[in-house]
This record gives sequence, C-alpha cells and structure tokens, in this order.
Amino acid sequence: MKKAAPIKVLIIEDETNIRRGLAKGLASQDIRIDEAEEGQRGISLFESERHDIVITDLKLPGELDGLDLVRLMNKKAPETMIIVITAHGSVETAVEAMRHGAFDFIPKPVDLNLIRQQVRKAVERKRLVAENRSLKKQLAASGWNSDIIGVSEATTRMLKEIQQVADTDVTVLIHGESGSGKELAAQAIHGLSRRSEGPFVPVNLGALPDTLMESELFGHEKGAFTDAKIQKTGRFEEANGGSLFLDEITETSAKSQLDLLRALEERSFRRLGGSKLISFDARILSATNKDIERLIQEGKFREDLYYRLNVVPLRIPPLRERSEDIPLLVENFLSVFSSLHQRPQKKVSKSAMNQLIVDPWNGNIRELKNLIERLVVTVANKEIQLEDLPPRKFVQKESEIQSESTLSSAVEAAEKEAIIRALKICRFNRTQAANQLQISVRSLHYKMSRYNIRD
Ligand SMILES: Nc1ncnc2c1ncn2[C@@H]1O[C@H](COP(=O)(O)OP(=O)(O)OP(=O)(O)O)[C@@H](O)[C@H]1O
Ligand SMILES: [Mg+2]
Repeated sequence: MKKAAPIKVLIIEDETNIRRGLAKGLASQDIRIDEAEEGQRGISLFESERHDIVITDLKLPGELDGLDLVRLMNKKAPETMIIVITAHGSVETAVEAMRHGAFDFIPKPVDLNLIRQQVRKAVERKRLVAENRSLKKQLAASGWNSDIIGVSEATTRMLKEIQQVADTDVTVLIHGESGSGKELAAQAIHGLSRRSEGPFVPVNLGALPDTLMESELFGHEKGAFTDAKIQKTGRFEEANGGSLFLDEITETSAKSQLDLLRALEERSFRRLGGSKLISFDARILSATNKDIERLIQEGKFREDLYYRLNVVPLRIPPLRERSEDIPLLVENFLSVFSSLHQRPQKKVSKSAMNQLIVDPWNGNIRELKNLIERLVVTVANKEIQLEDLPPRKFVQKESEIQSESTLSSAVEAAEKEAIIRALKICRFNRTQAANQLQISVRSLHYKMSRYNIRD
C-alpha cells in the first residue's frame, strides 16, 4: 500500500523559543514542519505548500498579524485547519479569529499536549475526508449517485454500513430521529442493491388509519368491503422485484403488527377478502424514530416482529453528532434552493455559517434544509448575514419553551453547573475546561453565553 503523504504543518511565531519548542514537540515521522517568524514569510510559504495545519500567533511583527493570516488563508484554502495562539487577555480576538475561520485557539503558555491533540484531530479529519471521498467514488462507480451529503466521521460510518448491507437482501430497521435522513438512507440501500431497477415503495404506516392498513398493504378483492368496487393490489405486491419501505413501523395496531408478522414469516399474504395465498418478492426496509425497545417492554410493540425487522439495525446519527457536515449541507441547500426559486446563487457569511455550526441542533437535517430554503427566499442580499438568522434557538423545541420543571431544564441546570466547575478547576482557561468537559471550545463558548457564565 502507498504510504500516506505526510501532514504539513506551518508554525508562524516570532518568539523563537516557542516556535522551536512547538516544532520539536510536534515533529514525527508523518508530520512535516515549516517555520516562519512573521506573517509575510508565512503567507509565501503557505502559497507554495498549502499546509494542512497552520499554527499562528495572533500578535506578529510586520504588516500582517494573525487575524489577517486567518482571513487570507481561509479564503485561499478553507480546508486548512488554523489554530491560533493567544496571549493572556486576548480571548476576544481569538473568538474573532474563529469567526473568520480559525479552527481553535490555544492560550499561552502553550500546552504542547493540547496542540498535539489538535493536530491529531486535524490528521484524523484529513484521513476521514479522503476515506469518504473514495467511498463516494466507489459508490458512484457502481452507478449510484448518493444524495447523502457529509464528510463527518458519523456520516462516513453510516455510508459504509449502507454499502455493506445494500448488496444483500437482508431486512434493515433504520433507527433515527425525525428529519435525520432515514428515508434517504432507505433509498440509498435500495439504489445500491441489485434490486435498484425494481420499484422503491414507501408506505407511511403512521399516516394510515388502522381500518385501511390491511387493504393498503395487502390489497383487496372486489367486494371485500362496501367500497371495494374493484380489485386492488397492495403495496407488498407493488414492491415485487424491489424494496418495500415501512416507515413509522411502531404506529401500528396489535392487529396490523400480527398481519405484518405473518406476511414476513410466510413471505406471502392474502388480499383482503381473498383466499389465495400470494407470495411476494420484496426486500423489507423499515424505520422508526421511537425507542422501540421501550415500546416492546411496555407491550406496545411485538417483540417477534421486532426481531424480524431488526435483522440489521442501521442508526442514523442526529445532526448534532455531525456538525462538521453543516457547511457542506448548507452550501448544497443554498444552490439547490437558489436555482429552484430562481434566485441568484446565495452565500452565507462566515459568521452566519459559524453560528449555524455552533447552534445546538435540536432539529435535524430537515430543519436545516427548511431554514436555508426560507433564507434563500426572504433575504434580499446575496450574502446571508448573522443578523438574518432567526434569534438564537430557532430550532428550539416547544417542550423546552414550556415549563421550568421539565427534564430538559434539569439537564441544563446540571450542564451549567458542570461547566462552572470545570472552568473553576482550570482557572478559567477555556481550552482546558473544554477539554475536560470533552466538548469543543466553540461549544463551550456557546454554552457560556447561553447560560450567562462570565469569567
Ligand atoms: N445527509 C444528507 N444530505 C442531504 N440531505 C439530507 C441528508 N439527510 C437528510 N437529508 C434531507 O433532509 C430531509 C429529511 O430527510 P428524511 O426524510 O430522509 O428524514 P427522516 O428521518 O425520514 O424524517 P422523518 O422521521 O421525519 O420521516 C430530506 O429532504 C432529505 O433529503
Ligand atoms: Mg421519514
């Protein structure tokens, strides 16, 4: 196998001791380091080398300071990861740098372990992006063009799982929150399978009244009930040669669950009012946004049906577990909706994009998509600004707005306490506190302003 190219790191720092210390501390087999003492030299090295990671002091001698560098480099190569080093008391500027695209900031005195950790993260991200790209290429080569967008670890893992199960006829139960992309995943499984030429038939069980369920799924014979003027084929038959997608599988009565179980066990069914046993040849995919195991414990869902459906479980991660995907998703939705609504191609300003990334996505991809569509239509300027975004929690759930004594408010109180504790322990060094809390500095900032915590 070809050896992976080394990661290129550029360190821009005028204090020789710090610069050398960093270079030494980071040097390893798969890392190549360049050094610059001031901004101009840094930029020209960057022009020729396009480093994967840039570590820069904010205050630099000469024409260009760290903030200028962040702006310039981010414009030239947005995929470069920029970490800024900040002196005591310049947190404000550091935050400004993050608004302009810096990945993170590290306070002086520089903790080498922290930097190493960041570099490892950057390396990992680069590997994932490459892996994702090759996965997508494989998928495209197999004749399928994925609509699933994302480069995060969670999305890459999901794509891999989809690819693994697609080629078999195995039954898959897709678990995931509302709007996270369950149906898209089901379509992808179908599109990648050898049944892709056959039909993909989705049935939303949640939208079907129980009285219609049987005839919808299995069809009926003429005269089976008063309104049955003609014979009708059901979804199981329609999906022959293709895939049947049973959505909101838990929204079914005990009777429907039993009907489904029988059909799946026997791979055949009878039309309503009919006596002939009809066998079907459809792959069964299903989905739920409920905690199905709890429903089983509560006696609301048949365990035997669950085992039939859940042969391979596929979990769709919520958007908050893959916020790295947000920029790509936003770009994509912008161009889709700009052309759909015949608007000039819109852009999102850096600060608005950062806001979209740090916002707590209680909602999912559907909410993000809806928001972008709305902005494309309602914002007059070509560039969508921070002010154009709805106030903070535009995705706030009703349950959170409601009462003070909810579970979410209890969770928030506990979260606030944990943050204050961590900040105190780390003497208000935010990077360390974030580290201890195992969240990003960005989300720590976000949470501090949300809970009104000041240092
Ligand atoms: N990774 C993704 N890339 C691009 N678009 C996506 C992605 N995931 C979901 N979407 C889009 O988000 C919307 C919601 O996705 P989908 O309908 O598949 O979600 P769902 O989990 O089935 O939601 P629900 O539980 O409400 O039925 C769709 O418009 C879909 O195209
Ligand atoms: Mg759905």
